[in-house]
Amino acid sequence: MRLDKFLKDTGFGSRKEVKVLIKQKRVSVNDTLISNEGLSINEEKDIIKVDNNIVKYVKYVYIMLNKPKGVVSATVDNVHTTVIDLIKDYKYLELFPVGRLDIDTEGLLLITNDGVLAHNLLSPKKHVDKTYLLHTDKKLTDKDLQVLEQGVYLDNELTLPAKIKKVNEFEYSLTIHEGKFHQVKRMVECVGKKVIYLKRITFGSLVLDESLSLGEYRFLTEEEILKLTKKD
Ligand code: URA
Repeated sequence: MRLDKFLKDTGFGSRKEVKVLIKQKRVSVNDTLISNEGLSINEEKDIIKVDNNIVKYVKYVYIMLNKPKGVVSATVDNVHTTVIDLIKDYKYLELFPVGRLDIDTEGLLLITNDGVLAHNLLSPKKHVDKTYLLHTDKKLTDKDLQVLEQGVYLDNELTLPAKIKKVNEFEYSLTIHEGKFHQVKRMVECVGKKVIYLKRITFGSLVLDESLSLGEYRFLTEEEILKLTKKD
C-alpha cells in the first residue's frame, strides 16, 4: 500500500493534507523520516510513525452506530446513503453492517469487518436477543401484549416467546430472539396495530450508547468486544 493512502485511510486527512504532513518530515517508516508520499509500505510489518507516535494498522474494527432514518443497512446503494458511507475511518477495511435495520428504523447497528463474529451473531441457532423501542398507532391491549409475548405466526412459523413492556401510552419495548424480515412491524400487525416509530436499543450484550446522536458512531470498548465475542 502507498504511504499516503495508508495515512489517509487511518484518518490523517485527505491525500493533499497527508502529502503536506510528509513534506513537513513528520512521518517515519521504520524510524527513517520519509519525504516520498508514494513510498510503498507493508502496513502489517512496517512501523509507521506520525510525530513519533505509532500508527497502528488494525485488522478488525468494531463500531457502534446510531443509525438514522433514511440510511440503508447495506455497503453500497445507488440511491440512498448507506450505513458504511457514514463511517469516515478505516476505508481500507471491508466494513459491513451485522444484520439489517429497515430504512425507517433508527438505533443500534454493529459495523465490523469480522465475518466470524457476524456469522455467530446472526446465526438463527444462537437466538441473539434484540430489544426495540416502538411507538404504535393505537394502544396495545393487555391481550395484544400477551399474544406478542407468546408468539405470532410469521411465514407459517410461530415466533419465539418475546418480552414486551409498556413504557408509556403508545410506547413499548420489545425483546425478540430472532431476526425475521420486518419482524417487529409484522408482529405488531398481527394484533391489528401499526408500528410508527422503531429504534433498536440492544443487540446481544451491546447496549446503544445514548450519548451518540443519530448518525454518530464510536468504537466498541475492549469490554464490549470481549462480551460480544465470548463463546457460550
Ligand atoms: N423489525 C422490523 O420490523 N424492522 C427493523 O428494522 C428491525 C426489526
